Amino acid sequence: MANGDPLLEVTDLIKHFPIKSGVVIDREVARVRAVDGVSFTLREGETLGLVGESGCGKSTLCRAILQLTTPTSGSVRFAGQELVGRSRRDLRAMRRQMQMIFQDPFASLNPRKRVGQIIGDPLELHGLARGGELKRRVQDLLDRVGLQAEHYNRFPHEFSGGQRQRIGIARALALRPKLIVADEPVSALDVSVQAQIINLLEDVQEEFGLSYLFVAHDLGVVRHVSDRIAVMYLGKIVENSGADELYDKPIHPYTNALLSAVPIPDPRQNAARERLVLEGDVPSPIDPPSGCRFHTRCPWSTDVCTSDEPPLLDHRPEHLAACHHPRNV
Ligand SMILES: Nc1ncnc2c1ncn2[C@@H]1O[C@H](COP(=O)(O)OP(=O)(O)OP(=O)(O)O)[C@@H](O)[C@H]1O
Ligand code: SF4
Ligand SMILES: [Mg+2]
Repeated sequence: MANGDPLLEVTDLIKHFPIKSGVVIDREVARVRAVDGVSFTLREGETLGLVGESGCGKSTLCRAILQLTTPTSGSVRFAGQELVGRSRRDLRAMRRQMQMIFQDPFASLNPRKRVGQIIGDPLELHGLARGGELKRRVQDLLDRVGLQAEHYNRFPHEFSGGQRQRIGIARALALRPKLIVADEPVSALDVSVQAQIINLLEDVQEEFGLSYLFVAHDLGVVRHVSDRIAVMYLGKIVENSGADELYDKPIHPYTNALLSAVPIPDPRQNAARERLVLEGDVPSPIDPPSGCRFHTRCPWSTDVCTSDEPPLLDHRPEHLAACHHPRNV
């Protein structure tokens, strides 16, 4: 387990998308509350898994952290420096230290550029290498992510999904960042390839001194890579805990439901586990339910759940959850 200094401190981060209507004057008629008050800390060298169903705001949160979309409000501190409200120029310099890996390795690589250029561009853009030195560094990166030197002159379409994700990882590593935000990096890949890519990310973590924010939509994928896991529901974090404890003693019913979908190899543990199958769809983030946002799908919901929003509290050391009727405590 890593236990370094805080690298990324996110406080009350909000990103709403206004929905406008009107022909002459644009009038805001509603807003999509994609990220609605998220706080967490990621320590140096640590991997934080971020999990939640489709549409709960994971990608928007990643983009708001990296300032690829301007947050509505809140604070993001990276290595002690505030990112929200910084000029584009400041951000450009700071982005060297924060890179992103995307879900779709097909869409995220420019199809007209050769692999060598895709990986080398960031180095050249930041004035870190040129000419022969640039080529050598790109070839080192290709080698590090399990590709060959002869791949340098090929185009992305000549590669499989897993290989393309390796190219994406090499591009992210080129600037030697401190933080990599990986937004569902293996969701589009075959299961056998998923393990290879996850192993690669783990291998380079120590070597490059990386911290990861690792997004997935199910708990199966993040278990082995994460030191901590944050569970997100409709724009909010509902539970945040050390990875093992989250699997052994989940506090929030939503976490319980996500875990019910993940098979456990030990049959005794499997039988002892409280099962909760999720029914219904995720409500709209335009008009989220009152009180606890999960109350429309929660079997333990009571009156207080529909009226009062449960705060995210420490129920055990370093184990936070937002629920009026916590489990396993
Ligand atoms: N630019 C935008 N304008 C309006 N609404 C948006 C915009 N981007 C995202 N949303 C909405 O914000 C909500 C959260 O979307 P987001 O893509 O962050 O979810 P996600 O958790 O990453 O989902 P997935 O698992 O499918 O990738 C969704 O309701 C989505 O429709
Ligand atoms: S606060 Fe109530 S509705 Fe929400 S998760 Fe807890 S028990 Fe369920
Ligand atoms: Mg997403």
